[in-house]
Amino acid sequence: MPTRSGLFPRNFKKSFPVASRGEGCWIIAEDGRRFLDASGQAAVVSIGHGVDEIGRAMAEQSSQIAFAHTSQFHTAPAERLAERLLAMAPPNFRNGGRVYFTSGGSEATETAIKLARQFHLENGQQNRYRVLSRRQSYHGSTLGAMSVGGNVARRAPYEPLLAEWGHIAPCFCYHCPFEKTFPECELACAEDLQTQFGSARKTDIAAFIFEPVVGATLGVAVPPEGYAARISEICRSNGILLIADEVMTGIGRTGKPFAVRHWGVEPDLILVGKGIASGYAPLGAVLVSARVVEAFERGSGAFTHGFTYQAHPVSTAAGNAVLDYLEAHKLYERVNAAGQNLRGGLAPLETHQNIGDVRGLGLLFGIEFVKDKSTGEPFPREQNIAEKIRQACLEENVLTYPTQGCVDGLRGDHILLAPPFTISPDQCALVARALRSAVAKVFLD
Ligand SMILES: Cc1ncc(COP(=O)(O)O)c(C=O)c1O
Repeated sequence: MPTRSGLFPRNFKKSFPVASRGEGCWIIAEDGRRFLDASGQAAVVSIGHGVDEIGRAMAEQSSQIAFAHTSQFHTAPAERLAERLLAMAPPNFRNGGRVYFTSGGSEATETAIKLARQFHLENGQQNRYRVLSRRQSYHGSTLGAMSVGGNVARRAPYEPLLAEWGHIAPCFCYHCPFEKTFPECELACAEDLQTQFGSARKTDIAAFIFEPVVGATLGVAVPPEGYAARISEICRSNGILLIADEVMTGIGRTGKPFAVRHWGVEPDLILVGKGIASGYAPLGAVLVSARVVEAFERGSGAFTHGFTYQAHPVSTAAGNAVLDYLEAHKLYERVNAAGQNLRGGLAPLETHQNIGDVRGLGLLFGIEFVKDKSTGEPFPREQNIAEKIRQACLEENVLTYPTQGCVDGLRGDHILLAPPFTISPDQCALVARALRSAVAKVFLD
């Protein structure tokens, strides 16, 4: 970072290289260093960096019409992208579903919270407003999204500003909050949602929001078979909406268009962001199922909400170009094969005494570092293990995504790997080699 910078950085105590070019899985810095992007820049970049077609499609759209306010016009790229997303969604979105485009994931979460509230108003249920969620989750950085979020460290400074609508247990087998084992646990974590309906305040619950696979906060916690289905059943039988936050997992990242499709679940709302435009434009969306749309159509007809830049023509043109690229290059089909390659490369790490767990789905992996492999005991937070691993990988020119807190919100170190779907077997081997070297350096093997 230049010493004199006008940019408000993520961290004043760190320096940041200046990214000047992207090529496939590589990011090239101004000083010529080449970094292998094993993180996909926070699980965003799916088609790789520097794909010319996307820029061309955005320029073409911009030269036609760059902006038209949604209170006055709809545009062709937004219409087209909405249809394509609905076609990828579960069956309950196909006949009569709609898409509300935003500029990112947090705006999608805010939109979903308000959609859930107004859905119940349209149905004459004035008292329903609480959106339940899970501890150890992340749904965005705006205040509504933080209120449903359960990331202890990210919430801490803002607690006085946040609404408290209720959080249930996370679904995290490696550190089960009930200290049980699947399947003997009988999905106690899902049943924790049902207990919320035993309280006197059950009639003010509007919705439940969850990440089908928990991303950054837990380091890719994949639920056991039956969890998502049971959660869906509890929501349905208690008359509340189910919101699947697929900002990280959507658009192919886990090997299906949406992660909920691994389990045949039909949420009422699906949130997307990140991969929808692969980082080429700020874009997010809420997919709204037919029954929710119908409540608005039959009721007031208007959603009391809006952003100036919603359904932006250039961003949605980028989204269409990204989907075209994913389809033309059969990249959805590459996810599982590339994931297996990467997993294969990581396999030798699994026996290391300080690697507690390697977990994941598709091309989304978490690696958890532990002090004691037999008990899963974490390192003290102050040792900053995840950051040290990131740093050591960076010295090998490989980018990873480190986080702390997977055990109790503060302790627990893990890194996330979410490379572009285009990652080659050789590049998977490079990532694995960098990690092995980082682990040896940090744990002084
Ligand atoms: C699951 C999930 N939801 C919401 C968000 C917020 O998205 P954004 O940072 O685009 O606002 C994120 C971002 O990391 C996320 O992973």
